[in-house]
Amino acid sequence: MNVVLGITGGIAAYKTPELVRRLRERGADVQIVMTASAAEFVTETALQAVSGRPIRSNLWDKEAEASMSHIELARWADVVLIAPATAEIMARLASGAAADLLTTLCLATEAPIAIAPAMNHVMWSNPAVQSNRATLEQRGVQMLGPDHGSQACGETGAGRMLDPDDIAALVFGPDLGGRPVEGSLSGKTVLITAGPTREPIDPVRYITNRSSGKMGYALARAAAGEGASVILVSGPVNLAEPRGVDVVHVATAEEMYAATHDRIGDVDIFVGAAAVSDYRPADAREQKIKKSEETMHIELVRSKDILVSVAALDDAPFTVGFAAETENVRDYALGKLQNKKLDMIVANQVGRDRGFDQDENAVDVFWDGGEQSFGQAAKTELARDIIELVVARYTATRGADTQPALPKLHAID
Ligand SMILES: Cc1cc2nc3c(=O)[nH]c(=O)nc-3n(C[C@H](O)[C@H](O)[C@H](O)COP(=O)(O)O)c2cc1C
Repeated sequence: MNVVLGITGGIAAYKTPELVRRLRERGADVQIVMTASAAEFVTETALQAVSGRPIRSNLWDKEAEASMSHIELARWADVVLIAPATAEIMARLASGAAADLLTTLCLATEAPIAIAPAMNHVMWSNPAVQSNRATLEQRGVQMLGPDHGSQACGETGAGRMLDPDDIAALVFGPDLGGRPVEGSLSGKTVLITAGPTREPIDPVRYITNRSSGKMGYALARAAAGEGASVILVSGPVNLAEPRGVDVVHVATAEEMYAATHDRIGDVDIFVGAAAVSDYRPADAREQKIKKSEETMHIELVRSKDILVSVAALDDAPFTVGFAAETENVRDYALGKLQNKKLDMIVANQVGRDRGFDQDENAVDVFWDGGEQSFGQAAKTELARDIIELVVARYTATRGADTQPALPKLHAID
């Protein structure tokens, strides 16, 4: 798939080297066309290195025009993707302007055009921008996002550029004429639980934990990126839903248990990444508890263990657990692997500034007869490493049709 990636002058342009990598991982040839403003946010050197092609930015570059003219470039493209797309490029595209390479190319191409808007939320809601969005959509331009969330300006709202993984998935999706993702998990169904649970004490109070859901959501994206059909059973989190993933929202451990077991029938791989509350109040009050005594006691009862229940099924899927521990991580993880009869366990140390609600983590993965460590890295990177390892172990133990090479394993003493 030939992708012309137009990069315009928004702050999210700093994410484009990552986007280029995600597109190339899926097999795209990426030719970058930058506006003059984009060069204020990301260097040509970095983009040339990750795309492996010289960057085009100037309509009047005689040498570049001689090797592949802007018209040839427009014909070469299977898709034109603009990410990030500024309010300014949306206005230029909507008006049919053609004073620079990117807009000229957009007028000259017959390929589908997709844009990933990225701007401050007040800019995004401005009637002029919304009118340009409507005009472009009416003409068949695909809008990829934007997302809702925290922004570079420090505010929160709609206007964030979609995650590079999601953009890459959409570019290869059916709407843009792309081919379905063919990966090591094509034809497989993966169910992942993510986030914390909330156990009500009364209508206004609950017991929860510090899990953000970032690891589970990253795993869902990574599995979908490998072609799996993914079900994500999510506790209450503040994260954008991964594209192309069936997300089921739940609140309590009991709801998570039920949502998992309702869907486990056709699941090949189960990953329990949620931080499920081990205990819940025995008696959630109907009315708000009033302040009275100096001390009070809440009786807690054990929640049903979702991992154990899935691993114990007659036709259990390949079952992966997570162990978040503050001490003796290895011993607890190995104990859990055996006692819960899991196929694999991913262990990490958590604490005040570790693991929970962080963008990075480091994990040790254990299975019967082997282990592998992954050092400090972004959870998105770790998720891809973990999914690769899961595929290798799943293939080795369940004899799937594909046989990817096993990573080098170190036997446990
Ligand atoms: C620091 C800084 C950040 C900016 N971020 C954005 C942005 O995220 N989205 C946007 O639409 N414009 C943003 N702008 C404004 C654009 O850079 C400006 O409208 C420019 O003319 C866009 O040109 P282009 O679309 O040709 O790249 C930003 C400007 C500055 C100085």
